[in-house]
Amino acid sequence: MSKNLSHSPLADTDPGAQIKRLRQDLRKHADHYHVRDDPEIPDPEYDRLLDALRALEAKHPEFAAADSPTQQIGGAPSETFTQVAHELPMLSLGKASDDAELEGWHRRCQTALGDDQALELTCEPKIDGVAVSLLYQERELVRAATRGDGQTGENITANVKTIRGVPHHLPPEAPRLLEARGEVYLRDEDFHAFNEKAEADGERPMVNPRNGAAGSLRQKDANVTATRPLKFIAYSIGRLEGGTGPVSQSQALDMLENWGLPVNIRARRAPDLKAVKAYIDELAKDRDSLGYAIDGVVVKVNDLAAQQRLGNMLRRPRWAIAWKYPPEEAMTRIRDVAFSVGRTGAVTPVARVEPVHVGGVTVSNVTLHNMDEIQRLDLRIGDFVWLLRAGDVIPKIVRVHTKKRPRNARVIEAPTACPECAGPVARAEEEAILRCLNGLTCPAQRREVLIHFASRLAFDIEGLGTKRIDQLLEADLVKAPSDIYALTEERLLELDGFAELSARNLIAAIDKSKRTTLPRFLYALGIREVGENAALNLANHFGDLDPLRQADIEALTEVRDIGKISAEHIAGFFAEPRNQAEVDALRGAGVVWEVIPVEASRKPLADQVWVLSGTFEALTRNQAKARLVALGARVAGSVSKNTTQVVAGPGAGSKLTKARSLEVPVMDEQALLKALDEHESA
Ligand code: IVH
Repeated sequence: MSKNLSHSPLADTDPGAQIKRLRQDLRKHADHYHVRDDPEIPDPEYDRLLDALRALEAKHPEFAAADSPTQQIGGAPSETFTQVAHELPMLSLGKASDDAELEGWHRRCQTALGDDQALELTCEPKIDGVAVSLLYQERELVRAATRGDGQTGENITANVKTIRGVPHHLPPEAPRLLEARGEVYLRDEDFHAFNEKAEADGERPMVNPRNGAAGSLRQKDANVTATRPLKFIAYSIGRLEGGTGPVSQSQALDMLENWGLPVNIRARRAPDLKAVKAYIDELAKDRDSLGYAIDGVVVKVNDLAAQQRLGNMLRRPRWAIAWKYPPEEAMTRIRDVAFSVGRTGAVTPVARVEPVHVGGVTVSNVTLHNMDEIQRLDLRIGDFVWLLRAGDVIPKIVRVHTKKRPRNARVIEAPTACPECAGPVARAEEEAILRCLNGLTCPAQRREVLIHFASRLAFDIEGLGTKRIDQLLEADLVKAPSDIYALTEERLLELDGFAELSARNLIAAIDKSKRTTLPRFLYALGIREVGENAALNLANHFGDLDPLRQADIEALTEVRDIGKISAEHIAGFFAEPRNQAEVDALRGAGVVWEVIPVEASRKPLADQVWVLSGTFEALTRNQAKARLVALGARVAGSVSKNTTQVVAGPGAGSKLTKARSLEVPVMDEQALLKALDEHESA
């Protein structure tokens, strides 16, 4: 991907030129990131460039330079704030992205300390925010600073004082001088709320929570920072004088907490590396539900004396390492937008992007859902975009990098005809989606309809998968599902890849599928809004196809979980002559199912509407409701002329009055218990 974002290190062959180029690029990106809080490339991409530079410098030491980006932590402090010299440098962390790197780090620690020493570790979520140092003198917050380049940061005291959760005073038991270090960050919900408001007000949204936190902290006016819902979590102690310090990292966290500083409740001690790995796996599972963005786990040697003995390298400690999860956000580029046609004719725009690694997989296609989404994003072909893939969720484009839009970026036009069959397309009023109106005559829809029809939850025809269906379509042997039942062994044998046995097996599987069930049949028809569950409810309600086919919208909405929209789709489907013909053709081909005995399976209180009012003694209202519903009754919240029965306990007020005025029968709890018992044992 980097070839589109920056100059590929492979483009130049002269290592000196490559190094120069990379340094220039990295400096520019570092400036955007640290000073302007407006990164041009995603963090992992920056890391990749930095790694490439490091590798080149290692190979060609003759080009070493003290001012190379590889020799610096973070960005230079900006001019806006006064500078703060860190008495103890604020270090960065080495990273491990796989087990081997983590094990290597652990082994090095163990070796340096002497193997006989059991090495206790700690694990903490690596929150993706901004590192800050808080200095308390005589238990008063006197100074807050950013990390800056590690040696010199920016004085952001006024801004940090606006963060709720950062104590301005410490309790008497705190040391005379304390430097607490930690992370300022934004919670996901606060980040989203901010962006929603920003978008509504036409203001610039935040790129991501980390960036939003950085931008908020570096406001010139602390009143602006005060409006941002920033949070703080302390993770270590820097300087400490006039008091007893901790002997371990875990004790440091306990002390910080006792002094009133927020610490991460997910921080844990780990007796060994196995426990660290278990922690990493556990946190990965919870990553999306933490409520804040993390990019990894910080693993530290717990014992501070051991930390001392291991010591620091130039910019990072030997006693800690950052385990990095795969990035969930990545930048890529839109190569093209294609329109795909689904089973129901929905024409969906799909972005073809430069393949990019995100959330642990390589993504090259991203659905854009509909034209409204394209408009909302203001997306063009050729644009650089931020892609998000959190957890197992399908990847989505969250933002367009409009500033990097190339001159020749192309506007995406909605198709005026079906991209598959050139047939007419239309957009229903209440929908954002374009649809091809050609139904089964559109080859794309035909293909999807057949795939769905033969699928496991539908007719479950073994051996009739996508590949075979494509072959049958290609040979023009099927156009509609009912054509499947006209196939013969001889016909199949004419196709590539069929031998006597495979042809016989497929015909046998097709034959077998004729004996189906009504729910499967209804699901297989592929009516919009009729999934597995709705098909089951429809089948149980109507028992057979004919009463369902004749049902009007009102009758359909009586079915459990069928709303007005589904009912309209169902009635609309059966009103369509070509659907009627197809259903008849399937039955004519010998498709059968067993009628479901609706009357016999009817529940004793089906069609009845009960209302509960007042308090009960033997049952809670929820228990009473559950038992009534199990018997088929609907339990409503208010009394109307449709109410079958009211159950009134002590304190029944207006509902009882209304029942009397409408002459709805009323019973007490005793009578209810008796009725429930009778029906349940019947
Ligand atoms: S320890 C010398 N602990 O990660 C140790 N850092 O590259 C350095 N971070 O920007 C810091 N959570 O702000 C430590 N629990 C944690 C952390 C953490 C996030 C950030 C830190 C710094 C970066 C280190």
